[in-house]
Amino acid sequence: MSLGMRFLPAASTGAERFESFFDVYLVIGTLLFVATLGACFYFVFKYKRKTENDHTPYIAGNYIVEFTSIFLIAMWAAVFFLWGWHDYKDLISPRQDEYEINVIGQQWNWQIQYTNGKNLTNEMYVPINKPVKLIMTSKDVLHSFYVPAFRNKADTVPGQFTTLRFEANKIGTYHLFCAEFCGTAHSKMIGKVHVVSQDDFKKWLDGAYVAPKEEAFSQINDKPLANLSLAELGKKVYQEKSCNTCHSINGARVIGPSFKGLFGSEVELIGGEKVSVDENYVRESIMDPMKKIVKGYSPSMPTFRGMLSDEEVNQLIAYMKTLK
Ligand code: CUA
Repeated sequence: MSLGMRFLPAASTGAERFESFFDVYLVIGTLLFVATLGACFYFVFKYKRKTENDHTPYIAGNYIVEFTSIFLIAMWAAVFFLWGWHDYKDLISPRQDEYEINVIGQQWNWQIQYTNGKNLTNEMYVPINKPVKLIMTSKDVLHSFYVPAFRNKADTVPGQFTTLRFEANKIGTYHLFCAEFCGTAHSKMIGKVHVVSQDDFKKWLDGAYVAPKEEAFSQINDKPLANLSLAELGKKVYQEKSCNTCHSINGARVIGPSFKGLFGSEVELIGGEKVSVDENYVRESIMDPMKKIVKGYSPSMPTFRGMLSDEEVNQLIAYMKTLK
């Protein structure tokens, strides 16, 4: 049962934990507020000057009172810090079998890319009781992906991937907001997140799910692009932007490292530093190829800045993930 945020729907496992935390915080805060103000008023009346000759006694201090109050406040802060840290750590930790969805923020809408190639604007479908990982970026300025019902938000940053994790546990349609002032139409950068049953989600991915009328929102581009999955689109990018000239997909050494088994692995750079090949590393290597060169290869790749859109980068990464 939740006291404080009862007026807001809670629809994720993280939201429930947030609620418990907030409730305790609210109760203790309210008690302290009442106690402090109560003491204030009590002393105002009790020690009100009675005659013109009343004088305030001189009190130098009371170490026991000072120490106790500082100690209690410090303990209170420490408990809430540890509790909050514990929940937060859990919220951002990877889960087994996460369902990945790409999010691109731009002025002023949200682009949602699914691995099967579906592309939506301002609308997201997620299955219930399944850990979801959003891989997010921005085309222009900072935005922030915020779903109040999940009590969860994260900035989207141009030129970089950020992640947001949640597990929805209540079927329904929830608000999606941009929570970072991003320009004139910031307040219109809103959307919907639909939490549907796992069966309905599969149907929706296959294009067979019909949304109830009140649920439908924008329905823009709710079709796989040319019926290709994100990875298949990535394969086209791989060929059309001639990544294939220098990067093989079968493990053969050409000019650059082969894409086979590359994503998710750890590579050693010139200089001995080791980095894991994740979304951010791949993106950086596409845009800024001279920055982190894999040991044993010559620095010969040109930048693809401006030649690959954020959508195409996501497609290419989806393709690389399939090259095990
Ligand atoms: Cu995007 Cu505010």
